[in-house]
Amino acid sequence: MRPRKRPVSSPAVNPPPPAIRAPGTRTTACVVLAGGLGTRMKSALPKVLHAVCGRPMIAYALEAAMALKPQRTVIVTGRQTHEQIKDALAPYADRAKTEISFALQVKPLGTGHALLAAVKELGDDFSGSVVVLNGDFPLIKPATLKRLLLLHGKNRNSISLGSFMTEDPGSYGRVLRDPGGMPARIIEKTDLAAGDEEIKEVNSGLYVLEPEALKLVGDIRLNPRKKEYYLTDILALARREGLRAGACRVASEEEFAGVNDLRELGLAEAVIRRRIVCGLSEKGVRFIAPETVFIDSGVKISPGALIYPNVHLQGVTAVGKGCIIYPNVRIIDSVIREGAVILDSSLIENSEVGEKAQVGPFSHLRPGARIKSSAKIGNFVEIKNSTIGEGAKAMHLSYIGDASVGSSVNIGAGTITCNYDGVSKHRTVIGDGVFIGSDSQLVAPVAVKKGAYVAAGTTVTEDVPAGSLAISRVRQKNVMGYVGKRKARARAREDK
Ligand code: UD1
Ligand code: CA
Repeated sequence: MRPRKRPVSSPAVNPPPPAIRAPGTRTTACVVLAGGLGTRMKSALPKVLHAVCGRPMIAYALEAAMALKPQRTVIVTGRQTHEQIKDALAPYADRAKTEISFALQVKPLGTGHALLAAVKELGDDFSGSVVVLNGDFPLIKPATLKRLLLLHGKNRNSISLGSFMTEDPGSYGRVLRDPGGMPARIIEKTDLAAGDEEIKEVNSGLYVLEPEALKLVGDIRLNPRKKEYYLTDILALARREGLRAGACRVASEEEFAGVNDLRELGLAEAVIRRRIVCGLSEKGVRFIAPETVFIDSGVKISPGALIYPNVHLQGVTAVGKGCIIYPNVRIIDSVIREGAVILDSSLIENSEVGEKAQVGPFSHLRPGARIKSSAKIGNFVEIKNSTIGEGAKAMHLSYIGDASVGSSVNIGAGTITCNYDGVSKHRTVIGDGVFIGSDSQLVAPVAVKKGAYVAAGTTVTEDVPAGSLAISRVRQKNVMGYVGKRKARARAREDK
């Protein structure tokens, strides 16, 4: 069993700093731990891949790590999660300026065991400082990592950890300090002795280790209660070796909040959501009700844009200067250019809306919709994989799919491009200045050439030459006196 008593045998003060380790010359590696099962999430998705404002949770820890410009970065994954985490982080790994590699922790035998997998991946030739981060604290800021690394270097510690004070230590590991005030041990919740519950300083899951401390990771013993190797035990091992240690309160409880279940995920996401909206407001974006909008981390909004309540901006979306986004709009992976207006309750996916264009209310732009400048898309209009030319209008009840619509075209109410014949999709080409009368169908493949007119109610099955009129409806016949004669016939039947 692990000794449960307080480590009175630890030195009362830290040993003197080693003379070597010139600041600025150290190389740094970052290790992000993501090999755990995350069972408390009660979800089939690996814990660290749960999205927080549109980004996998682990991407936040990874981005904070990247800010340190480490020479090496190792992400520890588990057997069940290895491929999924690798795939999800591929875009981040591609963008990163440092080498990112993945270490497989074959069995989830605890955070100490996870670090051992990372040490193997780093190899014997790496001899710099190693920054270790849990993968499950998305609120961590890059500045906090820098601060800990700085203090670690300044104090010439062999091991430093980020700690914070909390009124509700919950499941965090408690930091025990020796009589000299130096950190001596971390005790996990399940191993707390009577009285230790009162300890309000807890371990954040952020550490910096020098080689002389890192090598002790192999000496961590299995925790008999949890049957895991606790990384946190490395502190006591380091102190036993007479190494210098520091626990630095480098950030607040909010920033270090770990995500272990869906409730904590919701809380962390709310904080990031608030940070995003505050950041944008400071840059000149006006939110009518900031607490009601949902904006992903990857979204860019230019100053002067006005965002009404209950707007959702997701993925890689950009909103230009002076745009107005009215209530209940959801925009995913799209570009809304300067001065465009998106009216109420519209859904825009993978599309582009040009300068001063107007979309909505109740419009649906599906992937590949390109609305050029000053065009107008109105009520209950669905557009897919189509270009709508400059100044063109489709204001009511239409489906435009796989079409090229020229500039200044007027698409009447109820126009439908019949783009699918049950087997393949076909294109409709509508030239500049065309007028499509209401309730027309354009049976693709078909072209209505420049300046042509399509009469209301026409089913266009053949190309319409430029400047001509296409009309395919049955000629109207008026039956004179029909209503009176009908009524007379009905009266005669009743009289019988
Ligand atoms: C851990 C710390 C605790 C600290 C808290 C801060 C330990 C033993 N405890 O507890 O002192 O207060 O973080 O949030 O380290 N992981 C692996 N492989 C494993 C197990 C976990 O890579 O076998 C990864 C997880 O994916 C996760 C991180 O390590 O990203 C932390 O693991 P978790 O189980 O969440 O630890 P906590 O119980 O929160
Ligand atoms: Ca955790």
